Amino acid sequence: MRLQKVLARAGIASRRKAIEIIENGSVEVNGRVVTEKGFGVDIDKDKITVAGKPISAEKYIYILLNKPKNCISTVSDPNLRKTVMDVVGLIDKRVYPVGRLDKHTTGLLLMTNDGELAYRLTHPKFGVEKTYEALVKGSVTQHAIDKIKRGLFVDGKKTQRAKVDLLFKDKEKSRLKVKIHEGRKHQVRLMLLTVGFPVKQLKRVNFGNLSLGTLKVGSCRLLTVNEISGLKKLVGL
Ligand code: URA
Repeated sequence: MRLQKVLARAGIASRRKAIEIIENGSVEVNGRVVTEKGFGVDIDKDKITVAGKPISAEKYIYILLNKPKNCISTVSDPNLRKTVMDVVGLIDKRVYPVGRLDKHTTGLLLMTNDGELAYRLTHPKFGVEKTYEALVKGSVTQHAIDKIKRGLFVDGKKTQRAKVDLLFKDKEKSRLKVKIHEGRKHQVRLMLLTVGFPVKQLKRVNFGNLSLGTLKVGSCRLLTVNEISGLKKLVGL
């Protein structure tokens, strides 16, 4: 198996990050530093260490967080802003967020140390569906909804077709449910802004087979066995 895949499976990092770790020279196979990313290893026979520590068949952990506002979806921040790691608190395993939510977006964020699953869930090839509830400024028109449904140009690139349901509207504001299969930066905010309706609040309520349900903002829970197997099935694992 390729070395980066082994590291990802062992929960060291995502596959992409694992390549960086290998190229940095922190990984040894049978006592020799290996910096070649595609290096083939036999997980039963080879002794693999990262920064001198043997990798173990670490047990995976899967956490569903209801991300609050004003915290960022990274493991650490050089500017010491509050991160999702601060919200999840101390756990004895190293988990990291699967994809990102904007600083001001709340809702469902999966955190895990299962590198292979995380890699697939964020890979455009698998196009995992994400559902957002957006509160926007203004009374949304059917024309605007149709544009989003068909796909529109955001930063010079057309978005894929989306599903949109209008949940409520009055003269000043509207509430919509938007389902997309992509994960471009600020995508929902930009799509709605492009059709003239700036987002005031954004919350992710579904990610693949996962639902936020009634989990309180700032709380987290472990995934159930069924949720984990459902997620894996979605991405061919
Ligand atoms: N789309 C956005 O605009 N922001 C998010 O946080 C997620 C999707």
